[in-house]
Amino acid sequence: MTRIIRIFDTTLRDGEQSPGASMNIEEKILVAKQLARLNVDIIEAGFAFSSPGDFEAIQRIAQEIEGPVVCSLARAKPEDIDRAWEALKGAPKSRIHTFLSSSDIHLKYQFRMSREEALKRGVEMVRHARGYVDDVEYSPMDATRSDLSYLCEVVEAVIEAGAGTVNIPDTVGYTTPQEFGHIIRTLRERVKGIDRAILSVHCHNDLGLAVANSMAAIHAGAGQVECTINGIGERAGNASLEEIAMGLRTRKDFYQADTGIQTEEISKASRLVSNITGMVVQPNKAIVGANAFAHTSGIHQDGLLKEKITYEIMQPETIGLTQSRLVMGKLSGRHAFREELVRLGYSLTDQEILEAFERFKRLADQKKELFEEDLEAIVNKAVTKVPERYSLKGLYVESGMDRRPLAKVELLIDGQSVTKTAEGDGPVDAVYRTIAVLTQTKSQLKAYIVKAITGGTDAQGEVSVRVEENGETVTGHGSDTDIIIASAQAYLNALNKLADLMERHARAEQKIGLC
Ligand code: KIV
Ligand code: ZN
Repeated sequence: MTRIIRIFDTTLRDGEQSPGASMNIEEKILVAKQLARLNVDIIEAGFAFSSPGDFEAIQRIAQEIEGPVVCSLARAKPEDIDRAWEALKGAPKSRIHTFLSSSDIHLKYQFRMSREEALKRGVEMVRHARGYVDDVEYSPMDATRSDLSYLCEVVEAVIEAGAGTVNIPDTVGYTTPQEFGHIIRTLRERVKGIDRAILSVHCHNDLGLAVANSMAAIHAGAGQVECTINGIGERAGNASLEEIAMGLRTRKDFYQADTGIQTEEISKASRLVSNITGMVVQPNKAIVGANAFAHTSGIHQDGLLKEKITYEIMQPETIGLTQSRLVMGKLSGRHAFREELVRLGYSLTDQEILEAFERFKRLADQKKELFEEDLEAIVNKAVTKVPERYSLKGLYVESGMDRRPLAKVELLIDGQSVTKTAEGDGPVDAVYRTIAVLTQTKSQLKAYIVKAITGGTDAQGEVSVRVEENGETVTGHGSDTDIIIASAQAYLNALNKLADLMERHARAEQKIGLC
């Protein structure tokens, strides 16, 4: 019989812990909506106690997303659990996920607690969380470097206290498939009451084994996997959702297990997370890399032409990869535009449709044919917009082989028009220097990525930048058929996000001061 493995997506929590992968609230909502379309079982929306931004994101996701259980992480502390519940209480289905280490290394050096104290605290905090909600998950952090008999004791005690899911994290990505399979089997054999809980796993990829370890755990009886889109996450990342979902779907015969994932949404989810975080997917990445379905060897192509199963174990359509479809053109009207968005699975407000349609018309003037990916970029921009303190009014660049590039930039700053001219080492550098002078910002550019959204020389260039100021990192995006304009937009988008973040922090501090 095929077991259905629950997919616990932590892109918005552990994934967001990837260096530089921070997302603002509107972006998190957009990702959460796509996770709901993917049909994940649980969305870990953040860590409510960690920041007002995380709290608000969890609250909005809890209120706005239908389908999956919405979860908040909480340390094994009453104040964390209270805050998690405060954020979650609007959700139709919610879960509190609390954790404390079980390894002697962590208990001795980090928490300065004995094993007995940690076990007692874990039990108390599961009970505390159960006072709010029936669905409670407990994680003994660094489980794979813990004494196995003690781990069994902890798991048994937290189940007894009311945890319905016990998650076994390989926090530092240290275990191996054989060893992890043994841990899961031992827990299933030795822990009294194990059948009353779902055994979950959470693997990090420090040795490149996160997916293999998760699959070994499923084979040994785990019923839930924690994973992220594109495998993003702390350090080398987490197990990748798309690899687990497609691994189980493709090798159901071996694992006797599958997931409820709507695999046709995988490709879109991967593009969305990559665009929002600015974390590029390596071309040879399994399932979602640009080359994952590209056969170049003559022998393979020959076989494929004769019969697809000779070299193809999955069809690209099963992850939603189809030929880029021509969707609309210059003469398409607002009604057709709205219909097309519905067909692509977007539900936008009237105001968002209006803004997206204006962008669409502008782009259709520059580009003869518009593809699904173009529409995706337009919609994402309309939905994730930030208040525009700075906007681009005019841009002129001179560059050539025998001259130093010069940029003239006109901006609207809080509604006032300002213009400046500056030189740079290249056209983008000249534009960025001019913008920095005009906005009087001192941010550092940490990453600059440019790629074409579709094929052809009239394709839109999409620029993503990662920018840091005062310890805050944001990503900015811009798309245009002119990549210098796209670059300016991406930089301004990042500066607007920083300005918005500073304002939110100031408001949150003011609120705390007033309480
Ligand atoms: O890696 C880890 O141990 C975690 C826990 C909080 C589950 O992310
Ligand atoms: Zn983790």
